[in-house]
Amino acid sequence: MSREAFLARQVTPRVYWVGGIDWTLTDFHGYKTDRGSTYNAFLVMAEKVTLIDTVKAPLRDEMMARIASVIDPREIKYIVSNHAEMDHSGSLMEVIEAVKPERVFASANGVKALKAHFHHGYEIQAVGNGETVSLGDRTLQFFETRMIHWPDSMVTFLKEEGVLFSQDAFGMHLATTELFSDENPAEIVRWEAAKYYANIVLPYSGIVGKTLKALMEMKLGIKMIAPDHGPIWRTEEEIVKILGWYQEWVEQKPRRKAVVVFDTMWRSTEKMASAVAEGLKEGGVRVKVLPMFGAHRSDVITEMLDAGAFVVGSCTMNNRIFPTMADVLTYVSGLKPANKVGACFGSFGWSHNAMKELEGYLQGMGVELVAETVKVNYVPTKEDLVRCVELGKKVAAEVAKRTSESE
Ligand code: FEO
Repeated sequence: MSREAFLARQVTPRVYWVGGIDWTLTDFHGYKTDRGSTYNAFLVMAEKVTLIDTVKAPLRDEMMARIASVIDPREIKYIVSNHAEMDHSGSLMEVIEAVKPERVFASANGVKALKAHFHHGYEIQAVGNGETVSLGDRTLQFFETRMIHWPDSMVTFLKEEGVLFSQDAFGMHLATTELFSDENPAEIVRWEAAKYYANIVLPYSGIVGKTLKALMEMKLGIKMIAPDHGPIWRTEEEIVKILGWYQEWVEQKPRRKAVVVFDTMWRSTEKMASAVAEGLKEGGVRVKVLPMFGAHRSDVITEMLDAGAFVVGSCTMNNRIFPTMADVLTYVSGLKPANKVGACFGSFGWSHNAMKELEGYLQGMGVELVAETVKVNYVPTKEDLVRCVELGKKVAAEVAKRTSESE
């Protein structure tokens, strides 16, 4: 028999990775994915051969080839759908049709969501929180993780091997041939895991904290965490690392860091942003300045994850804030960042309504405004720029009050 182009990769004696690598993905519903992604699916070689999750529809053939490098896909008896979003379920109906499994499992909400997505006629069995299913010589246990990050989300634990199939949780958008987190560059792993949390999981941090605590208290004996995107966390050290990061991100503990986001038409607001950054630096706060004519909204929220301050500036266009600012502020406010102080600045010609709009966005996000907004008519004078430096220093002083020096 000729070999398959795409091969499965062994994860444990009984578990194979059979996912797809999306090298060219650059946008994931508004989230810029500079390094592509993977959609991880796993084959459990038990008496009842089980497929955990599937892949985005265009990568179905790649997944089927990887499965076929281990077994005839028709030997799959069970399929588990941990999460109904289409990057994991897009090929599910075609796989069911091809494989004709004895049973397909999802959470009760997953059963409803899959029906609403595919309007299919297959029977999908709902499994409850904590329920177990025997695969003959192996056992699966399901835990609902509602709103991490959809109502249907659940994780599946393969008891005998200690593998937690965690769907989106603990994942990242990183296309890589290196299957394990410790095989990939540490800086990239940290950044992409943080970016994923900030852009996908952040609004549900309260629930994440409670769910993590409950899972840890069960002392399941997790030896490996296998998410649906990016590398697998396979050693105790790596598991402690990602759980520690999640704890940090759940808390959104502010650090001595400020994110300054702005856009500009004729460089007035740009000059003001530079002066604000000077003041923040003088006040002992690290600064990340992100101009929205170049930066992406998904990087802004990632930088905000550990920042103590969020400072925004806009020029005025048609008596409104600049459209790129409305874009980024709409996006980040939906992700519910917490524990930040902030301030606003900007330029105007004949009406300064845009400054009110900026303040409204920050107040709506729960950002505490700690300095009076600096408004400049047309082009900033030297004195105006000194006012911007003072704004930066005032914000820095408020950040310092709320953080320790080591942060
Ligand atoms: Fe990776 Fe929520 O889908």
